[in-house]
Amino acid sequence: MRAVYVLPFLVAVCLGNVVKQQERELEWWEKSIIYQIYPRSFADSDGDGIGDLKGITSKLEHIKEIGAGAIWLSPIFQSPMYDFGYDIADFYAIHDEFGTMEDFDELLNKANELDIKIVLDLVPNHTSNESVWFQEALNGNEKYIDYFIWEDGIIDEDGNRQPPNNWLSNFRGSAWEFREEVGKYYLHQFVVGQPDLNYRNPDVIEEMNNIIRFWLEKGVAGFRVDAVNSLFEVDKSLFGGKYPDEPLSGRTDVDPESYEYLDHIYTKDQDETYYMVYKWRDIFDEYTEKDGLSRVMMTEGYATIQNVVRYFGEGDLKGAQMPFNFDLITDVGASSGAADIKRAVDKFLTYKPVNENANWVVGNHDQSRMATRYGSSLVDGINMIVLLLPGVGVTYMGEEIGMVDGYVSWEDTVDPAGCNTNDPINYVKSSRDPERTPFQWNSEKNAGFSSADKTWLPVAEGYETLNVEVQKAAEKSHLKVYQNLANLRMERPFRYGRYDSLALNNDVFAFRRWYDGETYLVLVNMRDVDYTIDLTYFENVIGEASVVVSSIQSPKSQGDVFDVSALPVVGYEGLVLKLIV
Ligand code: GLC
Ligand code: MG
Repeated sequence: MRAVYVLPFLVAVCLGNVVKQQERELEWWEKSIIYQIYPRSFADSDGDGIGDLKGITSKLEHIKEIGAGAIWLSPIFQSPMYDFGYDIADFYAIHDEFGTMEDFDELLNKANELDIKIVLDLVPNHTSNESVWFQEALNGNEKYIDYFIWEDGIIDEDGNRQPPNNWLSNFRGSAWEFREEVGKYYLHQFVVGQPDLNYRNPDVIEEMNNIIRFWLEKGVAGFRVDAVNSLFEVDKSLFGGKYPDEPLSGRTDVDPESYEYLDHIYTKDQDETYYMVYKWRDIFDEYTEKDGLSRVMMTEGYATIQNVVRYFGEGDLKGAQMPFNFDLITDVGASSGAADIKRAVDKFLTYKPVNENANWVVGNHDQSRMATRYGSSLVDGINMIVLLLPGVGVTYMGEEIGMVDGYVSWEDTVDPAGCNTNDPINYVKSSRDPERTPFQWNSEKNAGFSSADKTWLPVAEGYETLNVEVQKAAEKSHLKVYQNLANLRMERPFRYGRYDSLALNNDVFAFRRWYDGETYLVLVNMRDVDYTIDLTYFENVIGEASVVVSSIQSPKSQGDVFDVSALPVVGYEGLVLKLIV
């Protein structure tokens, strides 16, 4: 009697599991491409040489056309722009060069119509020194003094005041700045104009929670969390009430003013930071429950893989759905071989929790552009990797057309990371201006970015031939390859399929995605050398395959059929094939 009831129950559970694992309903961000816009450089509507919100609204069709479902905007909030918006003076207001709150609402509405989600940048680690909080602190308001991290200086042998310890700013030099008004030094892990907030003060936590709520309430689809691993500093009560020096990193290729000179064991990756992220996730989920829109959190932390995956959560505590995976930026580049790429790709997949998604990032406003780091010949191949691996694909504006870094002279350099080198020769190694040059829309003045006589950064050379309009008109272009890949990634094998990969020789990296009888093979030749490749090293891959997408230098056309045991591949070719069954 009992068995009669138990058996159908078990069958139902088993079937339920199969369906659940393979074709559970995906959240919008799990099946979307997330496209990063650096607002100053995307589109300028009012001719002041600086991109703005109306400019973005006017170009949303482009986002739609390339197949991205969400945009992440670098900070759009009121700011004196010492760090180009990452120094926020008012978290509740739109920066005037970008427009007004009305412009933002209009952007949100238009994006909604087009079914494009908007993700904002949350900068919780610091404010601007022009924020009301910091100004109040300087006025001697005790409540606000405790919003920041203050420390007494040290008097040296010569009787001069020196910073409290050896901590360094990410942008060179001491991380401490003295303020007469308070009689102490404040901590700034980034520019002097970015005082670090004190996360051991519950009022600061509450303020940040309110900021998160304000924008989620407005309907934004989530946040990218800036410099998250710098949030907490070590608890100084464990060190007799004084922040301890950080040990030397031992790196001999950097000078003592450089951030890399120290090992940041007291200012980065502190345990408390992860728990803060888990608390924020609860707020995100509150809003998801309220209005049904899944909110996504992407965390920016350059850290060991073990620390990066901690942002996903711990036990029952949920965290970020997308701790950014920077391995394809930090671990590999133009000189990498197929095995290096395989190892870099497998790293995140190996360390992430099995029930979480991977994500793939090859560029942003802080890193030399993908086409420059890997070389322009590899643009399509790298986009194949980003868009067809299991997980979320992230595109930094311009990667869809293979934009390269611009040349910015010392005189034109504005990024503090470049300026602080005080070095008119070597500043290029540190400056982030080259990857922030204006977006290239067409062959007209300023690449169609702005009607101004001078844009805030110069437009990169070569825009007359490298731009959206030219690539739309061309028979073959990076843009068209990108669009094909964006369409392809909607197919079930890319949404639900399994993955494995092989370095087929020194230069050719390949991976397979398969699901429910369908198998795709993706190949990228990292070198300018021709090969004949045997894909039967992949299990169950035999017979013939047809070309689905090919990179612009490929002599192959869509639909061409090849024997998988002897596939000719030309230099730098990128290919997506479908196995014929
Ligand atoms: C992040 C941002 C970078 C900024 C820094 C300080 O790394 O991506 O652009 O300078 O945080 O906010
Ligand atoms: Mg403007």
